[in-house]
Amino acid sequence: MEPTSLILFGATGDLAKRKIYPALYNLYIEQKLPESFSLIGLGRREWSDEFFQAQVEKSLHEFSRRQADPARVKSFVKAFRYSVLNISHKEDYITLLDLVQKREAELSIPSNRLFYLSVGPEFFEPIAQNIQESGLGSTEGWKRLVIEKPFGHDLQSARDLNRNLSESFTEEEIYRIDHYLGKPMVQRLETLHQSNPIMKALWNNRYISNVQITANETVGVEERASYYDHVGAVRDMFQNHMLQLLMMMAIQLPHNSTPEKVGLKKKHIMESILPLQKQTVGASVIRGQYAEGSIQGKPVNAYTAELGVAENTMNDTFIAAKLQIDDFFWRGVPFYIRTGKRMKEKSTRIVIEFKEPSGQAHGVKSNGSKPNLLVIEMSPDQSMTLQLNASDPQNKGDFKPVHIDLSPDREDLAEAYENLIHDALHGDPTFFAHWDEVELSWAWVQPILDAFTENLLPLHLYPAGSYGPAESDAMLAAEGHHWWFDEPADQDVSSVTDVPLAVNGNL
Ligand code: BG6
Repeated sequence: MEPTSLILFGATGDLAKRKIYPALYNLYIEQKLPESFSLIGLGRREWSDEFFQAQVEKSLHEFSRRQADPARVKSFVKAFRYSVLNISHKEDYITLLDLVQKREAELSIPSNRLFYLSVGPEFFEPIAQNIQESGLGSTEGWKRLVIEKPFGHDLQSARDLNRNLSESFTEEEIYRIDHYLGKPMVQRLETLHQSNPIMKALWNNRYISNVQITANETVGVEERASYYDHVGAVRDMFQNHMLQLLMMMAIQLPHNSTPEKVGLKKKHIMESILPLQKQTVGASVIRGQYAEGSIQGKPVNAYTAELGVAENTMNDTFIAAKLQIDDFFWRGVPFYIRTGKRMKEKSTRIVIEFKEPSGQAHGVKSNGSKPNLLVIEMSPDQSMTLQLNASDPQNKGDFKPVHIDLSPDREDLAEAYENLIHDALHGDPTFFAHWDEVELSWAWVQPILDAFTENLLPLHLYPAGSYGPAESDAMLAAEGHHWWFDEPADQDVSSVTDVPLAVNGNL
């Protein structure tokens, strides 16, 4: 790996502490960091290098997946320096440039600079511009910009942001993090059918009945109401994480494909999804918001009673949708997607349901046979299981499901941020969100955003601790399907009344 200076904006923040430092430490232990490596942390607080290093050490003891070894931690943090930076003060970037160059000279390394923006999205543009104007971006080696989500608030703002960033960094230099793409099981999707001819042969509408992508969380809005109440599940999870999962599941890759090929194939998927019309969004999208309920036996508040949430808010904490990819491989296969807060359990999974032999009714049959399923669990479990039917020795002529475990060794599983930071240091853009697909995702989602804003579809309330509104189940039932692995309801979802559409006076 080439020698690198990592320049981290937001070095005193929560993401750095919980994810970035532990990821770097684990890469260091596995000897996956460049041999000559310098990190310069930036923040508004007046910290010394020593105090910064002590904070990093503390975060490793608290958050590293590997127990932090004191001696190794000490040698790891030696590469860390700190500089005070006020994002809008141009002179602070000049001071930073001096420090970066001093460290490059000390280590005798070329000016390969990775700028990591672990800051709010409102700071992306001024930082990129100041990097450019101060000379920090004029390197003899390479430069890269790593940014976190959200990338825009809608189609227009995403386009504006991209245009402005592209004045300082080229598309090849921009690494947009979507941490779902770093999840080990998502990374394995790419190779699953690529290196298994059996899977490759089955990866199409001839054999697959439907695909279900779920990201359910038990947490509510927590302390993030000021952000979440303007964003909702559609922007927070659906436009990015969920559509990325769909793309990664649906792409058909040739053997030994390049990062460019992956980008092109993902773009093709997004271009092939049948578009929605604002007026008819309600036919394939369900909008929900949690009412009060209970999770693991504990009563929890309704979304509207959460601290910082606007009175009469129509914000979505749940969204389910049916998407159709209109191409040769996937025409006719529904992709059902759902994500919500305050759901019954935390589970992020993809279920691929295979077709049953022709002439047989859908679902469980009297002889016990069930559809073949490929189940990819991403969180909290990480596993891949193929469910097939075998004859039941106890009951002649009947079948019972058997499970074939395709899971990787648990030991091998790195955290998402380890995978992503490693790839960014390496210059491998495969598992980052490319502009084309980000733009196409916003374009696809835009009619949903408009329909939500104009209240063109109902806001269904669901009790906290359920699987979301009953309408989400009905959407699948109408096509003879059901969400796999939902446990029977212990709360009566139908007893919660929907929010009348006229609540905001828009209809
Ligand atoms: C983040 C969202 O991007 O993803 C959060 O902003 C959400 O609201 C989180 O809780 C979920 O990530 P994970 O990895 O826990 O499924």
